[in-house]
Amino acid sequence: MSDPLHPTFDPLSKGFSEDPYSVYEALRALNNPFYFDAQDMWLLSRYEDVAAIATNPDMVRSLAGIETEQESRERQRRANWHDMPFHERVVQFSLLDSDGEVHRRLRKQVFGEFSVRNVAELEPVVQGFVDRLLTDLAQREEIEFVEDFAAHIPGFIIGHLLGVPAEDSRQLRIWSEQVVQFFDVDRSAERKIIAETATREFYDYLTELKKARVRAPQRDLISKMIADEAKGFYSGDEFISTCMLVLMAGHGSTIDVLGSGMHTLLKNPSAMRRLRDVPSLIPQAIQEMFRYEPPLPFFHRHATSEVTLRGNRYPAGTTFGLLYGAANRDPEQFNDPDSFNIDRAPNRHLAFGLGAHLCLGNNLARLNMRVIFETLLKNFSEFELANPLVPYKRGLSVRGPAKLNIRWKPA
Ligand code: HEM
Repeated sequence: MSDPLHPTFDPLSKGFSEDPYSVYEALRALNNPFYFDAQDMWLLSRYEDVAAIATNPDMVRSLAGIETEQESRERQRRANWHDMPFHERVVQFSLLDSDGEVHRRLRKQVFGEFSVRNVAELEPVVQGFVDRLLTDLAQREEIEFVEDFAAHIPGFIIGHLLGVPAEDSRQLRIWSEQVVQFFDVDRSAERKIIAETATREFYDYLTELKKARVRAPQRDLISKMIADEAKGFYSGDEFISTCMLVLMAGHGSTIDVLGSGMHTLLKNPSAMRRLRDVPSLIPQAIQEMFRYEPPLPFFHRHATSEVTLRGNRYPAGTTFGLLYGAANRDPEQFNDPDSFNIDRAPNRHLAFGLGAHLCLGNNLARLNMRVIFETLLKNFSEFELANPLVPYKRGLSVRGPAKLNIRWKPA
């Protein structure tokens, strides 16, 4: 198999963070999936392949119950995921990392909370928070969009949904980042300690919050989950692991797509102008932001039985890497995929995945983005890049600017 990328494929490199899309293009051009030896997985970059594996019922996120205890331990050791008792209990196991019956049961418990109708009720909460944030920030001519603005939003909103007091929402981001970073390619010893410590603190925090809500239930998700637990719908650590997943899954991703969405508009001033003139195009433009720069561009699946892809047979136990970010730029699926086109419709991007694990929070993610961009475009007449150098985060599983300095003028 020809894979000229082998010596150069380095998702932790600066070059990859500057432009993953040319690497994805080279991956798509290969005749076969690319074997990424550092992770012992086959990377899929074409839309058709990614969609086929994401929707294949013989693919699982977790090999628990399929591989032997010893195989599981060895795999964990190879990935340096061992010797982290809290992480193993409530992060390595979750709704996201379960399959079949367990996955369906856990997903069903919280699914309703994220329906279009329920999420619509959060709109005034999102609007109120963004308005307050902008009241303070609008006094300044220049801000760092990621830290000063975007980073405050998801902790407050998802925290509100679950029932976390507003004053604790900043801490959620710190824990989320420290835990989630350990999912990427860099699994160094330092990161391991940070991830485990954060998981333990997060666990203790949620355990205390749960106790408080048992004493005095409120109209929030954690109180509903307590009632569901009493009916037997959660066992063992599933309760805490679900709370943690809900708080973490949409955290960094929301910050990252806000940053990349703003950066993309700054690079496409005609799109920005049209959105000001025709705000009804904003929801469609948001979908294009998700396609163009998906903030969670990589997930995995394990095969439970042999699978054939492009004429090649892959045995049970094979791990596939789904490059949603590469699939979203596949010219076989999207016309002129490297251009940001707010008129693109239909736009069947894979930023939220596909199949059984389709993002639970996708309605909330799109609502947040719509409210925020509508508000920004209404309140400010001009935006410009204060520094043309916009560094993006390094890694395979996240995508978003580390810093975005902008200047703005109130309308
Ligand atoms: C901001 C943009 C977001 C993006 C791009 C995104 C993307 C994704 C993707 C791609 C998956 C599927 C993982 C896979 O294929 O294995 C996923 C799953 C998930 N997402 Fe999101 N997400 C976002 C926001 C949110 C939010 C705001 C929440 C909740 C508050 C959330 C909760 C979840 C959960 C619970 C799952 C697991 C679903 C399952 O395994 O059944 N996400 N997300």
